[in-house]
Amino acid sequence: MADWIRVLIVDDIEETRANIRKILSFEGQIDIVGEASNGFEAIDMACKYKPDIILMDINMPEMDGIQATERISLKCPSAAVIVVSVQGESDYLRRAMLAGAKEFLIKPFSPDEIIQTIIDVYGRSQQRTAQVYAHQVMDKGFVQSPKIITVFSGKGGVGKSLISTNIAAGLNQRNKKVAIIDLDLMFGDVAALFNLKVKETIYHVVQELDRLDAESLLPYLIQTKSGVRVLAAPVRPEQSELITGKHVEKILRLLKETHDYIIVDTPAQLTDPVLALEQSNITLLVNTLNVPVLRHNRTVLEVMDTLNYPTDRVRLILNRADLDTGVKPKDIKTALGMEPYCQLPEDTYADLSINRGEPLIEMKPNSKWAKHVSKLVDQIMAEDERKSSESFLSKFMWKRKKA
Ligand SMILES: Nc1ncnc2c1ncn2[C@@H]1O[C@H](COP(=O)(O)OP(=O)(O)OP(=O)(O)O)[C@@H](O)[C@H]1O
Ligand SMILES: [Mg+2]
Repeated sequence: MADWIRVLIVDDIEETRANIRKILSFEGQIDIVGEASNGFEAIDMACKYKPDIILMDINMPEMDGIQATERISLKCPSAAVIVVSVQGESDYLRRAMLAGAKEFLIKPFSPDEIIQTIIDVYGRSQQRTAQVYAHQVMDKGFVQSPKIITVFSGKGGVGKSLISTNIAAGLNQRNKKVAIIDLDLMFGDVAALFNLKVKETIYHVVQELDRLDAESLLPYLIQTKSGVRVLAAPVRPEQSELITGKHVEKILRLLKETHDYIIVDTPAQLTDPVLALEQSNITLLVNTLNVPVLRHNRTVLEVMDTLNYPTDRVRLILNRADLDTGVKPKDIKTALGMEPYCQLPEDTYADLSINRGEPLIEMKPNSKWAKHVSKLVDQIMAEDERKSSESFLSKFMWKRKKA
């Protein structure tokens, strides 16, 4: 189905708003997201509802449509303003266009006229967005389709934090915008693994979350030397109690606007915030050649199945795969019903990198472990590229079919 065009109607006369609403309600592609009766309300609603199109009357009490257009163009430029005025207001119209309006409609207008104008202006602004997007993609470093990668295990101490921090560093080395969230809320150590001093944490974010948007969230993340952004776990375990799955959901939504990848490190429990991670595009389930680890992860897979979590997004990681423990890598398939997606070897530098607070992939890029993790990072990125080209292709085919 085609995208809905989200429209905000601004007019001080209730009857005019009702007429426009009636006309637009017959158009299946248009969704009226709100109505405002003066400029102030229009600005508030534009910021809140982020409409695609604003139908803006010029003459209104308190703040007129021209001033409102000017402010909206600055505050929420994604909304395209169509000014609506009566004949003879040509000077106003000129000023409105200078203030940033994209088109105008002269009253009285026919239903066809208003609908066609909305569709045209929307089409033009979509085209502009696509061009800007294409430029930014070419410029690199731009947010493509953000991916959430959760690193989890039903048992602690298997290498989740080592792996998640190194994947974040590896994606960052490939010019991706990367954030990592530490959802090991009681005893998280992602910030320490990057040798960062912690001031603000997820605890502070949650207290301000209602007021935060994608931009204002960023200062709460601590940047590592190489450029990964870290949302640290609370410094006191008791602060973790405030943080819920709903909070995590919103944080992820905001981070997706400004990052290519969001890596999530987790505790070894299926806590409420961890369960919010059904939004994950990929869940890396970390195993070692250890019977209790495999048993716990088998339970994790069963729970996911019961909760209808999409288990096709789960990828098994076998860490310390070359240790002689009596359990063999081939036993993984028998225990968990899936082949490992990636095997990482034992590495003598793992503890040194953790103690120094420097990802192994940066500290010892030529070590066997770092090379394997680099391959894992490439594997993850290759999956995305394949998927996005598939979805591009299917959209293209769909459009051709429609034409
Ligand atoms: N491939 C490896 N080779 C050697 N040591 C490793 C390897 N993977 C992990 N370790 C070591 O295992 C320990 C636990 O690793 P890490 O803290 O990453 O696990 P975790 O799953 O995050 O643990 P927790 O559940 O406590 O958060 C660390 O001391 C780390 O150096
Ligand atoms: Mg950990």
